[in-house]
Amino acid sequence: MDRISLYWKNATAEVVRAAHGVTRAELRSIAPTIRKITAKMAADRKAGGVRYRNLPHDQAMMDAISREVEHFRDRCDVLIVLGIGGSALGNIALQAALNPPTYNLRSDRTRGGPQVFILDNVDPDLIRAVVDHVTPRLRKTIVNVISKSGETAETAAQFILFRDLLQKKLGARYRENILATTDPKGGTLRQIATEDHLRTLEVPDGVGGRFSVLSAVGLFSAAMCGIDIEAVMAGAADMDERVKSPDVFANPAAMIAALHFILNRKGKHISVMMPYSSALYSLADWFRQLWAESLGKRHGLTKKNVYAGQTPVKALGTTDQHSQVQLYREGPNDKLITFLQVEKFEQKLAIPESMKHVETLRYLAGASFQELIHAEKTGTEYALQASQRPSATVTFPRISPQTVGQFLYMYETAVSYMGALLDINTYDQPAVQLGKDATYALMGKPGYAELKEEIFSMAKRDAKYVI
Ligand code: PA5
Repeated sequence: MDRISLYWKNATAEVVRAAHGVTRAELRSIAPTIRKITAKMAADRKAGGVRYRNLPHDQAMMDAISREVEHFRDRCDVLIVLGIGGSALGNIALQAALNPPTYNLRSDRTRGGPQVFILDNVDPDLIRAVVDHVTPRLRKTIVNVISKSGETAETAAQFILFRDLLQKKLGARYRENILATTDPKGGTLRQIATEDHLRTLEVPDGVGGRFSVLSAVGLFSAAMCGIDIEAVMAGAADMDERVKSPDVFANPAAMIAALHFILNRKGKHISVMMPYSSALYSLADWFRQLWAESLGKRHGLTKKNVYAGQTPVKALGTTDQHSQVQLYREGPNDKLITFLQVEKFEQKLAIPESMKHVETLRYLAGASFQELIHAEKTGTEYALQASQRPSATVTFPRISPQTVGQFLYMYETAVSYMGALLDINTYDQPAVQLGKDATYALMGKPGYAELKEEIFSMAKRDAKYVI
């Protein structure tokens, strides 16, 4: 199996001298803590905790997903995925990484699966466009609604709309075009699914949204669209072996956390993920949620105020060389940049020699786009180093289901290490709730009247501050 690798020496080279990097001595001093965290994670896992770690070995889950794919595939021309946050970002990342960017535009024959639309927003223009597209195709449209709680306003609103559309067109048979992915036992969506006799898949018990990509949440839509999910999971299982190592110098997840932790203490409060691959750009989006929601915490485990976290940012190579790199090199030295690099792209695309006669462009003649993108990445890495800016690189030998599975599992484990180093609860998201409650209040959900009053009094605009 191809294996992704983590290159971190760059973070300890030139930049170390200016105290903007990480020394081997610093890593050695953190090594005993990493060993302890590894042992604790293994014990927690044995006791039924950190459930996401067991997903790559859950054959019953894979069988259930295959059953549903088998059931729906032949009667599905369009797959609509409804979800938000952890219930959508993994789906988007898998599709973008492993299917071509023109997937939806391809003919039915060459696509190898249904068209797919993952609606992770309630923008009415976005939703209307998709509704218009599926209206003439409703008989062969399958809606996969994903919500652990079933109460998330965005997903619930979308679900009501699409259920209504299907019901109007198909009558009582509407339920045959819906798959609900939700909590195994409780919650509003589970209740609706039971009452409506919907087919269901489970968001595994004890697995939070942002850790759920390697479950039915992310894998059903991937498999429907021709992605080899067994291979994704084989990659994750392979990474599981690597990240069991208690040695920070052998465990890439622990190393990612150690680099981020040490550099965060040195003022690198921003973690930029910069894939040099358009296909991998959505992995950076998935990473943003994982890093932000898991680590951004006011309270430490001892309940003291710690205001922990590191702001995750996504950038795209080479595009953002022409937008962000000026800031990264000469602005505040507060970032660790992690490049994602693809060693071998699927396509060998040559730059034609037809402009050889233009002296200033002659160097491009006959070169390949792969050479160009590699040169741009190495050039940016070098330029950052020249400005004492730390970076690391995750290398994908190729983009494949196995390497993407490895990457997802590696970062999930890395955030667990990082949370443990920061001594915070990695798995909750208490600060998300108030915004959700405020939406309920403003939309008139019973029980939120007092909050609505409070929001209105805050939201009143004083004319003297409006221009
Ligand atoms: O990671 C998380 O827990 C969140 O992003 C949730 O996935 C998101 O809020 C959606 O929640 P639900 O699946 O309950 O609709």
